[in-house]
Amino acid sequence: MKLSIIILAAGKGTRMKSKLPKVLHKISGYEMLYYSIKEAKKLSDDVSVVLYHQAKLVENEMQKYFDDINFVLQDHANYPGTGGAVMGVSAKHENILVLNGDMPLVESSELEGFLKFNSDIVMSVIKLNNPDGYGRVIIDGDEVVKIVEQKDANEDELKTKTVNAGVYLFKSHIFKNYLTKLSNDNAQKEYYITDLVEMAKKDGLKISPLFVKEENFKGVNSKKDLSESEVLMQKRIKENFMREGVIFRLPETIYVESGVKIEGESMIENGVSLLGDTKIINSHIKTNSVVEDSEIINSSIGPMARVRPNSELVDTHIGNFVEVKKSILKGVKAGHLSYLGDSDIDEGSNIGAGTITCNYDGKKKYKTKIGKNVFIGSDTQLVAPVVIEDDVIIAAGTTVIQDVKSGSLAISRTPLKIVEGFFKKFFS
Ligand code: UD1
Ligand code: MG
Repeated sequence: MKLSIIILAAGKGTRMKSKLPKVLHKISGYEMLYYSIKEAKKLSDDVSVVLYHQAKLVENEMQKYFDDINFVLQDHANYPGTGGAVMGVSAKHENILVLNGDMPLVESSELEGFLKFNSDIVMSVIKLNNPDGYGRVIIDGDEVVKIVEQKDANEDELKTKTVNAGVYLFKSHIFKNYLTKLSNDNAQKEYYITDLVEMAKKDGLKISPLFVKEENFKGVNSKKDLSESEVLMQKRIKENFMREGVIFRLPETIYVESGVKIEGESMIENGVSLLGDTKIINSHIKTNSVVEDSEIINSSIGPMARVRPNSELVDTHIGNFVEVKKSILKGVKAGHLSYLGDSDIDEGSNIGAGTITCNYDGKKKYKTKIGKNVFIGSDTQLVAPVVIEDDVIIAAGTTVIQDVKSGSLAISRTPLKIVEGFFKKFFS
């Protein structure tokens, strides 16, 4: 089906109480509007986004992900409201699906349901115990009879528990024939998209209701809504991975952003955060570890370890309180308390507790390169830039300030002095 999609995102989002436009608030790593556009693009080659408040900012943020979206500025001063919002869009196709930019949980598979009707308008409806805040929809058999906004509804209409979820499929002739006839003669002095339904109904056109899942069509209007949608999104993300064979221990304590990939026989323990563009393959991420924008393959991480962006860990174990940043570790063990930044560490090397790569001199960052089968004793500082070749031993407590050739021992120690009987003399 040839389909155009319009995403409404011009509203101010007053109830978010934020300087950031509502649709740029993030859920599981991405802005709400990102999800709407991503799902829309699966169904359509003609996606328009209607903006007004902080339009340039929203457009710039979305252009980081998408390059073929029509951004349309609503003439909000003259035509406010959801009806006003669609007036400036010229849709290419015969079928026009209207979505809201603040419904991040709507999936394209569910939107396909709208395309199965042969009606002039298909509108999404939900049955709610508490319909407060929504437009009410009166249904008779399989047709919509009436739609009325809460602020314009009479007492009887307010009792209706079937509400407008805010997503519609219009045949293009509806826009052509009725948009210019919209008026703002209502409680909010706005141009309502819902009045198109009203007018079409009066002319005897066919309007079908489509019952949709409440949790997927949840609109985000406040920070409370935002957190509730986050919970639903998290549940969805983790359940998808569980179906693929990933183990999550106490999943409700684990945070996984939508860009993350997990493959093979992986296990994620409680309290873990997997962020950004992270990929986990056949690995075990233990309690309270954080991995961001990194790749972990056949490795075990944590508990309480932190892998920061642009790291790659293969056949590696890092233990508690080990921080890795922008480093490649292949076949490495770093069991405890280390900072490994801007480093490249090769097979068979063992990093003792308390090892620090001193990668920053206050102005620039420098690299540490550690070869194969290097044994680094505890409490070692590697002052970068520095290269440790293969088969090297660094003694505990050493400060390495120059490159070390293959086969060598590096040791720097102040001589140990023992003064017998000192304790008694000092404390007596
Ligand atoms: C709308 C529906 C209501 C439905 C509810 C579902 C109308 C008149 N009412 O009400 O029946 O139950 O959604 O959530 O449509 N927007 C613009 N430009 C504007 C105003 C709004 O682009 O001038 C966008 C908003 O950014 C938002 C969407 O349209 O994404 C819905 O607007 P909102 O103000 O939330 O409409 P409701 O009053 O909730
Ligand atoms: Mg709303």
